[in-house]
Amino acid sequence: MRSPRLHVLAAIAAIAGTAAAACHRPGAPGSTDEPAHEGPRTAATAGGGGGSGAAAAAGPRTAGTAGGTAGSAGSAAAPATSPPALVDGRYQGRPIALTCSYLGADWLDRPERDALQQPERVLDALRLDPHGTVADVGAGTGYFTVRLARRVANVHATDVQPEMLERLAARLARERLANVELHLATGHDAALPARCCDLILLVDVYHELSDPPGVMAGIRRALTDRGRLVLVEYRGEDPAVPIRAEHKMTLGQIRRELAALGFRFLDALEFLPEQRVVIFDAGPPP
Ligand SMILES: C[S@@+](CC[C@H](N)C(=O)[O-])C[C@H]1O[C@@H](n2cnc3c(N)ncnc32)[C@H](O)[C@@H]1O
Repeated sequence: MRSPRLHVLAAIAAIAGTAAAACHRPGAPGSTDEPAHEGPRTAATAGGGGGSGAAAAAGPRTAGTAGGTAGSAGSAAAPATSPPALVDGRYQGRPIALTCSYLGADWLDRPERDALQQPERVLDALRLDPHGTVADVGAGTGYFTVRLARRVANVHATDVQPEMLERLAARLARERLANVELHLATGHDAALPARCCDLILLVDVYHELSDPPGVMAGIRRALTDRGRLVLVEYRGEDPAVPIRAEHKMTLGQIRRELAALGFRFLDALEFLPEQRVVIFDAGPPP
């Protein structure tokens, strides 16, 4: 059995400046955390607010990851420049959440997660092709990656933190899963090969992207013709969901942002207690 392939270690130093936060960032129901912004806000008006901790997600993180080298030799080319979409740590008027740090990564494998996230039920609902290739973008410690690897032929797993990929590589070796290829992404580059994947999954990741247009363009290129993009995000409409506001998104926000990035909405699955599963395809060619 082959060991998991890790293409990426040469780029570790480039990521060292990544600003990050503990993964566990609760916000009490009804707290004064900044609410998710359902209504459209212009970049100009959004930039002046920033009362929440999310304001710290501004430039430095983007700058820290921008210098990174794409980890995978076969990755789709990153755009030369990113669209001017980010203002003061915000994108489309919402605060970008800080990256969930590897230092708090144990939270990603907390025992109570299974009941809330229901990963096997989520994957059942996606009707994966057992012969197919999928990607887990922002894989973290591999909570979903290992489950995907047991269900399909090939998995690409990416993360911007080499420490996460190292933990994931160790987990894959422990679990004797040899069908996962690891890629070190950057804040601007999804680091996935073009047209590699029938399905690309981002669980609790999209709201953390420091450059959604840059990363999602690479993800769009990485989908096959009938490929699907799947986001799992905490419901921004529900004040009872106990996580900080910048880690939640409303369905309206998700649909608007992804439509502007070229994706076509297919479905939203609402069976999870705190999160929803939102499914898109790549839409018409650019
Ligand atoms: C909240 S964790 C979720 C991890 C995993 N998806 C899970 O469900 O357990 C978010 C992960 O996304 C990663 N991440 C943030 N921005 C990223 C990007 N542009 N490309 C790839 N990974 C990214 C972080 O490093 C972190 O590991």
